[in-house]
Amino acid sequence: MHSLHGMTGAQEWQGRVGQNWAAEWERTDRSFAALTPHLLAAIAREPGSRVIDVGCGAGELSIAVATARPEARVTGVDISGELVEAARGRAAGLANLSFTVADASSWEADGAQPDLYVSRHGVMFFTDPPAAFAHLSAKAAPGARMVFSCFRPATENPWAMDIARLLPPSKPVPAVDFPPGPFAFADPDHARRCLKGWRDIEFQPLDFAYVAGSGTNPVADALSFFSRIGPAAAAIRTLPDQARAAFERGLLELVQSRSVGGRVCFPAAAWMVTATADNT
Ligand SMILES: C[S@@+](CC[C@H](N)C(=O)[O-])C[C@H]1O[C@@H](n2cnc3c(N)ncnc32)[C@H](O)[C@@H]1O
Repeated sequence: MHSLHGMTGAQEWQGRVGQNWAAEWERTDRSFAALTPHLLAAIAREPGSRVIDVGCGAGELSIAVATARPEARVTGVDISGELVEAARGRAAGLANLSFTVADASSWEADGAQPDLYVSRHGVMFFTDPPAAFAHLSAKAAPGARMVFSCFRPATENPWAMDIARLLPPSKPVPAVDFPPGPFAFADPDHARRCLKGWRDIEFQPLDFAYVAGSGTNPVADALSFFSRIGPAAAAIRTLPDQARAAFERGLLELVQSRSVGGRVCFPAAAWMVTATADNT
């Protein structure tokens, strides 16, 4: 079996993975560009004047929500200091937006209780998801709402699966059913079990084009992006020379095969999840 389900937990986000995402925020925002308007539309349907962006990363969602709701107070929370620094740099001038470096699974907002949690792919990395979601519910205003996106299974996400197929078989690792990582909430039954303290949980599927490359040389752009972000990055860093060379040849062919009309795009599949805090 090739490895796609490696853990991406707090340590990785506080280390190399967070540093790479902070350096690459323009291209990670671009990869989500076809999903973000749908997520923002779902958020716009919810009331909320004390909004928390969980795992806000470099802050694109926080900035958009704070801009759309000038009367609201918005806080982006992220465990990676580098990503919060990148977010602060982008958001300068928005008086109703602040960022904080914290583990959202135990962090408490000062002042008014949150009445709306939002997240773009930032809630799948908790070490103990049921405890984290119970905490978010317990600290929220009565009946607070939550709107987040996350990936559906890897098998529906060729941006990940096609790359995983190029990897050499890996040694079996101790089985963890749903390790923290991009696909931790792919299974709605499992996600429901994790969403302790939440009710009215709904999953809407959303298919989108994951943009990996664009610009004057989309293929080179995608290869450079994949060398920093996602499953290819780990392979390029860790495979022995010969296996890495074979992997890189396969990756080039794959990216070329997905290069159409000046962009390298892969089909991607997400859930948009909404829920109400069961805390009254
Ligand atoms: C896939 S990235 C998404 C970032 C951002 N929401 C975006 O859309 O660009 C996941 C984010 O979750 C953050 N994260 C992971 N575990 C966290 C935790 N326990 N508390 C807060 N943030 C966390 C990571 O540092 C990272 O920024």
